[in-house]
Amino acid sequence: MPKINLKTLKNRAKKEIKKAADLKELNGVFNKYLGKRGELTSVLRSLKTLPEKKRKKKGKLANKIRWEIEEIITEKKKNFQVSTFKPQEEWIDVTRPGKKPILGHLHPLTQVKRDVEEIFQSMGFSVVEWPDIETEWYNFDALNIPKDHPARDVWNTFWLKKDKEKLLLRTHTTPVDVRYMEKNNPPLRIIIPGNVFRHEATDPSHEFQLLQVDGLMVDKNISVANLKATVGEFFRRFFRKEVGFRLRPDYFPFTEPSFDISISCVVCGGKGCSTCKNSGWLELAGAGMVHPNVLKNSGLNPKNWQGWAFGFGLDRLAMMKYKIDDIRLFRSGDLRFLNQF
Ligand code: DAH
Repeated sequence: MPKINLKTLKNRAKKEIKKAADLKELNGVFNKYLGKRGELTSVLRSLKTLPEKKRKKKGKLANKIRWEIEEIITEKKKNFQVSTFKPQEEWIDVTRPGKKPILGHLHPLTQVKRDVEEIFQSMGFSVVEWPDIETEWYNFDALNIPKDHPARDVWNTFWLKKDKEKLLLRTHTTPVDVRYMEKNNPPLRIIIPGNVFRHEATDPSHEFQLLQVDGLMVDKNISVANLKATVGEFFRRFFRKEVGFRLRPDYFPFTEPSFDISISCVVCGGKGCSTCKNSGWLELAGAGMVHPNVLKNSGLNPKNWQGWAFGFGLDRLAMMKYKIDDIRLFRSGDLRFLNQF
């Protein structure tokens, strides 16, 4: 066996490790010195032929060098391992911002409904809800609209299959006034938001499904002045500014006297525009003093109690607030429209 100087072997090995440009070359260096037939391996193997003293001394040095070389190689391998890693496939960067889930939000009509509820609740009104399916009695007869009354023609009705009673999709939320008065003693202050249905052709200002909110106040000595004050306060809070409004005589079978409530056009400020058809006014609600017959039908004595009622179209309120010119947009499911709210 040729004589090998361990120190020069170490230096050679170190240089070659330094030069190795990739994992393959590094493995080559490892094999050259530490492999089965490696230079250092053969030195270690040959130790057994030496006399004990020499063997111990040389053995100690050879092993030290082996560990040293091994350590440098292992250390350098780490560099190559990182650089050959494929980040796209195998690496998770936990510091990267996550993907944002798409968050929904409340439908504009729901927002308006909640606005209205909040305003009236702060004035002491309770919110009452009732199913969309109603009986003929509550939707019509109890409200002073008997079978042959022309007012029935105004509402093209979705009648449901006959059961014991004639059922329909309610054409307004007013029947709940009667239902509530039957079960609760005055004084009463409620609003009734809900869906109503009319069998009609749709256009920019007509839908077959609408959201309405009815209001009802029953007490002793109630007058139109209470109605006006309440409605005025509602407009102020809903539109967040002073809004001019007027009551004009109208006709509803379930109120006497009856009014329509209009506000000064919020689009043009009352000057006249296409939204208000140049009148300067927008009709928003029907209202009036509860008809004595309706009080009687609800089990109340009209001599002891009076009340006012109103019915707003929530769709229309939303259209005015957000200046929307086509009622059909609300239920179109078009996200380009809905995402604006
Ligand atoms: N129910 C009426 C409609 O749907 C609106 C209405 C008018 C409701 C007068 C009322 C009222 O409570 O007093 O057209």
